[in-house]
Amino acid sequence: MSAKLSVNINKIATLRNSRGGNNPDLLQVALDCERFGAEGITVHPRPDERHIRYADVYELKKHISTEFNIEGNPKEDKFVQLVLDNKPAQVTLVPDASGQLTSNHGWDTIQEQSFLKQIIPVFKDAGIRVSIFVDPVAAMIRGAKACGTDRVELYTEAYAQNYPVDKTKAIADYVTAAQVAAKEQVGLNAGHDLDLHNLQFFAQSIPNLLEVSIGHALISDALYLGLQNTVAMYLRCLK
Ligand code: PXP
Repeated sequence: MSAKLSVNINKIATLRNSRGGNNPDLLQVALDCERFGAEGITVHPRPDERHIRYADVYELKKHISTEFNIEGNPKEDKFVQLVLDNKPAQVTLVPDASGQLTSNHGWDTIQEQSFLKQIIPVFKDAGIRVSIFVDPVAAMIRGAKACGTDRVELYTEAYAQNYPVDKTKAIADYVTAAQVAAKEQVGLNAGHDLDLHNLQFFAQSIPNLLEVSIGHALISDALYLGLQNTVAMYLRCLK
């Protein structure tokens, strides 16, 4: 089974918000991504609503037929309520500060264990699969298992940065992390800075990869290649 492609549509919301109207239409883009073969839609609302607005999440939930994945920091009560109201297929918990440009580190699953152990069941009891964002470090994955998560999402920025220099070296920590996840029986997702250059090697090297969520590069590629072609090309990298 190849990993599922979940398209992160934050950048579409950023473009829409820059003019105040409804162009591009976020919901239409999500539905088109699904029509073009994407197996999931990801949103990462932030408290300042600078891209995805909380109201977008309620609207998307009504119409999306693939896996809906909501990312965010569960230390914000508003985020927890948003997720519980919408009951997506998956929530991905990310420890980012509210004004942060983009996610730039995973959870310390040892330091934060008591918080994570308390918040993860809140989502699981509502029937929502939980994934937590972690760096590719064995201790963090074992810690994630101890917190009771269903999956981890490996933070792939370091892989993407090092891939052009030495792809074998770049993937090494991720292969080890994936082996630990398999041993611990934790499902494996990945995301951040994955693109048409580095995705295929990543997916081939990590056989137990279940899902990737990709936003920035995919939406940027769509400017040149068109959304339909772009989604198809990313899907091909995963086959
Ligand atoms: N995963 C997480 C937790 C993220 O915060 C983001 C960015 O919003 C992504 C994946 C997707 O990263 P990119 O936009 O670089 O594809």
